[in-house]
Amino acid sequence: MDLLSLARTVKGRAQEPFTGVATMARTVADPRLPLLLVLNRTLFTPLYRASFLSAAAGSGVLRCMATRPCDLESIAEHLDTGPEERQRLRAWLDIGVRLGELDRREGCYRLKSRTAKALARVGNDAVAATLEELLRFHVPALRDAPRMLQGGGRFGLCDQDGLVVARSSLVVRGFVEAAVRKALPRTAPVRLLEVGCGSGAYVRYAAELNPRLTALAVDLQADVAGQAAKNMAQWGLADRVETRHGDLRTLDLQPQFDIVTMHNNIYYFPQDERAEILARARSLLAPGGTLLLTSSCRGSGTLGLEVLNLWFEYAPFGGPLPREDELLGQLREAGFDDVRATRVLPGQAFRAFTGRNSVTGPAGAPPARSAATTTVERTGS
Ligand SMILES: C[S@@+](CC[C@H](N)C(=O)[O-])C[C@H]1O[C@@H](n2cnc3c(N)ncnc32)[C@H](O)[C@@H]1O
Repeated sequence: MDLLSLARTVKGRAQEPFTGVATMARTVADPRLPLLLVLNRTLFTPLYRASFLSAAAGSGVLRCMATRPCDLESIAEHLDTGPEERQRLRAWLDIGVRLGELDRREGCYRLKSRTAKALARVGNDAVAATLEELLRFHVPALRDAPRMLQGGGRFGLCDQDGLVVARSSLVVRGFVEAAVRKALPRTAPVRLLEVGCGSGAYVRYAAELNPRLTALAVDLQADVAGQAAKNMAQWGLADRVETRHGDLRTLDLQPQFDIVTMHNNIYYFPQDERAEILARARSLLAPGGTLLLTSSCRGSGTLGLEVLNLWFEYAPFGGPLPREDELLGQLREAGFDDVRATRVLPGQAFRAFTGRNSVTGPAGAPPARSAATTTVERTGS
């Protein structure tokens, strides 16, 4: 019996007459016991709950149970597991019962806790994906940092599940949509390029605001772009929105867009490459076109943002969340005019940045204002 189980036994028997008084006294006097009991309540159990709920939400098991109580067979069918896995599936579900997240009655599992019921709701999908992102990507950043510092390891894009991130990044949907509403012309025909489109939800939103808008939605990750294309078809937008798997740095396009949007992805680029990247985005804008970039920024952010920032510190392909003044400087360096940062809500770390491409020269080529823009002139479109 481990010390924790022993502690629980002792606690449970505290009211009973002591038989082995000396043994009990020795156990209770163990100086590690109070710490274990406190950690069990404050760390171990919440971690088990979070892990179970994240897996149950991510695998769709919570959503299954939201519609009706499910027996083992129907859950196995949903997960597409063979009969040889039934016992292991039951063992996992029973931990959910033990944690108080599920209930089991007459051979059927159902949702029990308020958290499980809330995470099962379709409207809370971004929150469920945030929990999954936290456990799968944030926890490794905290856990592996010392080992990575010693061994030199770093995170790569393959350490993130792009489909989970495409869902979790919609937690800031209200902020991004407010920024899109402000920047988008409503009646004139608009050609939009969305870089790093994720689910494509913001292209859909823009298309709903302006019925004459057409768009190219691009994402670096093939599975993310594939899912966005499926979403566009499902939303009835396939004839207005082309979805492509591609990289902003190598897109071979004319400067044809009235608006380029980059939502929640400037930190996927190293800090010292951002001015060049922004100049690249500008080179795809028609004269007079606008860049709309939204991002959480460093400072006054939540703990979750600080840990996201930490993850990108350990990812050589990206960099930390931007600072407002630093990104404004990079936009100017990239050749944008009328550069602005807008706070969508007071006290929030989220900002909408805009800049205008006033260049009327050939093919929207960036002006030679700095070393960074000069580099883009050589490698750009
Ligand atoms: C955090 S997600 C945000 C998705 C979406 N914009 C949103 O806000 O919901 C960032 C996305 O940017 C994409 N991305 C990163 N670097 C890119 C690049 N160089 N070109 C195109 N897409 C890129 C990633 O693949 C990822 O899907």
